[in-house]
Amino acid sequence: MKAPILAPSVLAANFTQMTDVMGQIEASGAEWTHLDVMDGVFVPDLTFGAKMVADLRPLNRTIFDVHLMTVNPEKQIESFARAGADYITFHHEAVVHVHRVLTSIKGLGKKAGISIVPSTAVNVIEEVLPFVDLVLVMTVNPGYGGQKLIPQCLEKVKRLTHLREEKGYSFLISIDGGVNPDTAPEARNAGVDVLVAGDAFFKAPDKAAMAALLKGCQVKT
Ligand code: DX5
Ligand code: ZN
Repeated sequence: MKAPILAPSVLAANFTQMTDVMGQIEASGAEWTHLDVMDGVFVPDLTFGAKMVADLRPLNRTIFDVHLMTVNPEKQIESFARAGADYITFHHEAVVHVHRVLTSIKGLGKKAGISIVPSTAVNVIEEVLPFVDLVLVMTVNPGYGGQKLIPQCLEKVKRLTHLREEKGYSFLISIDGGVNPDTAPEARNAGVDVLVAGDAFFKAPDKAAMAALLKGCQVKT
């Protein structure tokens, strides 16, 4: 089994120390940086916008995985593309014309991701699967870090893995919420390609060891 990509979520980091944080992510061996954009409407809290992403961009060389937990994401796609996002993922629940938004992300030369909350079934995104580069399966209700993974959501990962194989699609499957060394093995077995981890990564004193553990690699001593 291939080791998954790790995407530490900066939501769990100290926002006053972002230069160090970005260095820690790269030094740990994580390939991606997960950037949670919250608007206080789609989810109760607020985090940051495109300016922050642009300011963080030069601070490490990882892939920037922007997760928009916002209403009207289409209004901000150009700003995030300009800010240096590599993947731009928005919520199915926030958009009517999903295909149009996916097309505009790709038109800006970026990878397009679709996300679904725990109560949304895979079926509703089936028609757009040929057009997505990433499916972000929320394994908690979005809005906060440090929640418990809802195991039933991993069934959606299995279904997506199956659909991808059956239809010959090439999207990556990511999970977000409650990923830690106890929950990661089952997620890897379900076929996850990208593990997003906030608390588990940033609370770990040895981030490289935690990265190896989450990816299922042998921990170097
Ligand atoms: C939650 C965010 C997550 C969050 C995950 O709504 O989308 O990316 O940072 O945090 P943990 O890994 O602590 O559950
Ligand atoms: Zn996220």
